[in-house]
Amino acid sequence: MSEDIQVKMTTMNYDKERPTAENPVKVEDLSLRDGHQSLFATRGRTEDMIPVAEMMDDVGFWAMEVWGGATFDTMHRFLNEDPWERMRTLKRYVKKTPFSMLLRAQNLVGYRNYADDVAKAFVERTCENGMDIFRTFDALNDYRNFETVVPVIKEYGKHFQGCMCYTMTEPRMGGEVYNIDYYINKAKALENMGADSICVKDMAGLLAPYDAFHLIKALKAAVKPPIHLHSHFTSGMSPMTHLKAIEAGVDIIDTCMSPYAYRTCHAAIEPLVMTLLGTNRDTGFDIRLMARINEVLEKEIMPKYRHLLDDTKMSIIDINVLLHQTPGGMLSNLVNQLREMDALDKIDQVYAELPRVRKELGQIPLVTPTSQIVGTQTVNNVLFDDKNERYKMITGQVKDLCYGLYGKTAIPIDPEVQKKALKGYERGEEPIVCRPAEVLEPELEKAKAEIGDLAADLDDALIYALYPVTGKRFLKWKYGKEQPPQDVQPRTLQDAMAEQELLKKAKAGLLVEKSDKDRPEKSESSRTFNVFVDDDYFEVAVDEVGGSPVVSYVQPMAAGMQMPAAAPPVAPAAAPAAQKPAAAEAKKAKPKTPAAAPAAAVEGTPLTAPMPGMIVKYEKNEGDAVNQGETVVVLEAMKMENALPSPASGTIKSVNFSSGDSVAKGDVLAVIG
Ligand code: CO
Repeated sequence: MSEDIQVKMTTMNYDKERPTAENPVKVEDLSLRDGHQSLFATRGRTEDMIPVAEMMDDVGFWAMEVWGGATFDTMHRFLNEDPWERMRTLKRYVKKTPFSMLLRAQNLVGYRNYADDVAKAFVERTCENGMDIFRTFDALNDYRNFETVVPVIKEYGKHFQGCMCYTMTEPRMGGEVYNIDYYINKAKALENMGADSICVKDMAGLLAPYDAFHLIKALKAAVKPPIHLHSHFTSGMSPMTHLKAIEAGVDIIDTCMSPYAYRTCHAAIEPLVMTLLGTNRDTGFDIRLMARINEVLEKEIMPKYRHLLDDTKMSIIDINVLLHQTPGGMLSNLVNQLREMDALDKIDQVYAELPRVRKELGQIPLVTPTSQIVGTQTVNNVLFDDKNERYKMITGQVKDLCYGLYGKTAIPIDPEVQKKALKGYERGEEPIVCRPAEVLEPELEKAKAEIGDLAADLDDALIYALYPVTGKRFLKWKYGKEQPPQDVQPRTLQDAMAEQELLKKAKAGLLVEKSDKDRPEKSESSRTFNVFVDDDYFEVAVDEVGGSPVVSYVQPMAAGMQMPAAAPPVAPAAAPAAQKPAAAEAKKAKPKTPAAAPAAAVEGTPLTAPMPGMIVKYEKNEGDAVNQGETVVVLEAMKMENALPSPASGTIKSVNFSSGDSVAKGDVLAVIG
């Protein structure tokens, strides 16, 4: 034990002898944001937060993180919930504990840099709606991307928490870029910007315990603001990292209530409370109150989300983070991408290429969205490059990065890669050196004009400005202009229990048993469930009779068969593998004219899809002249845009798909003759 930690209590009389700690570790609870974002794809609903909100307010957390990150996107897109309303609703139950949010700086709660006018209005409205602490980060640690949002936070008298994304290039902290000096300099920059606290944001769980000790000690000596540690559990190190950070004098630690803890999420609070009990850094939290909260979560809330938990692995630790420093989400993206291309055997090449691409792109931290940018480009290089040419297929986002649209990279981008990426780039071939948002035209008035009366206020207009397509659809649901689909409806505890029951029966082979009783009539209110048992898939209709579900029919479905087009009333994600047939089906090519057999019918050089994806747009139309190497079509794969060049010079003889179409690898997208 470090000399800094002293045990003050020797008896175990929990209530009477527990001294008030001189310097209690402060704790931010993340259950209602990062918790369900990390474990349940951010699908937590407001109605499932209310039952524990008041009890959680009583714990004594320094703050509760309840908003930001992916919540804004997920709520309006998948849950038919107004993101602004959640903040206001929870405020009615949580009256003492400050609220915290994750703000992606100029990216706000989206995935690109927004113009200054949108950024300002968004932060203003967030302050007005009740946010207290703004945890602000930039994927490149380029604090010029803070320059618009921070003055607004300050103007409203709110807490500006500046983050540094923790990343590394070596197995331990150090090396030429991400060494102790790098982080000290970042902390000083944040202090100079007026940070009320400074957060070490270890999003991939890479921070090792002894590095944490070293880092926190150095930060405490270098800057005045309190130091806050956000360290994901992913690699399994975080509970040890927390303890060493506490010994080094960290002020605030992030944790989750235990039902929301571990895996790619955060360590649980309860073991930490007991670890520090009776020491000079005792949290002072009542472990029995936490047990009561957990009971509600376990019995009434979590069963509704169990189907979203990735339980395909026994291990709750992702060892790849330790081996390759590849964050959990990024790795599964890479694997999916390779699988779609039938190239899973190339995973080792991808691991080898990844650090090289990352270095060439400026040794950037790997966090949303940079992890996707580096990951997808790596896969493209492994699949399409040859001995004579690298970076044969450069994504649109890599071009934006090379232009400077995300900000300044940790080291300069490789000049050759940069030059190649910017050849013919729409904004210009010369990269910018200014703050990225300076080259962005104002967006807010245009967005307001576009959405018109469908937005009742600025909050509505901002939903549209941030997410034009899904935002508009949400506003139509909100104002009754369109009926929201079944799959955005909440899942009830009864739904979850009924499904569990069916799954159990299906596994035991009981679903096919004939009932002794007469077959009841299937009612109109019967609900359809998809039940997945290993490779088999059953469609089951269920009627509610006197409260208990009665199976009225079971339809075995062949594996790989097309799933029903309409979304079933129960979320179909019961098993992740079960979504595959639908996904595979959706990806089947849909030629514009069914009769067209383009490759055979039209003579010329075909331009084929090098990977499965979705057509974003055609840059050339039928009859247009085209030079070899000119972009014909932009294809989106794994959220990244790929501009596909013409394989020959000539005229576009045929264009076989349209914007929004899904295509398979090898589909003929156009013919040049
Ligand atoms: Co996090």
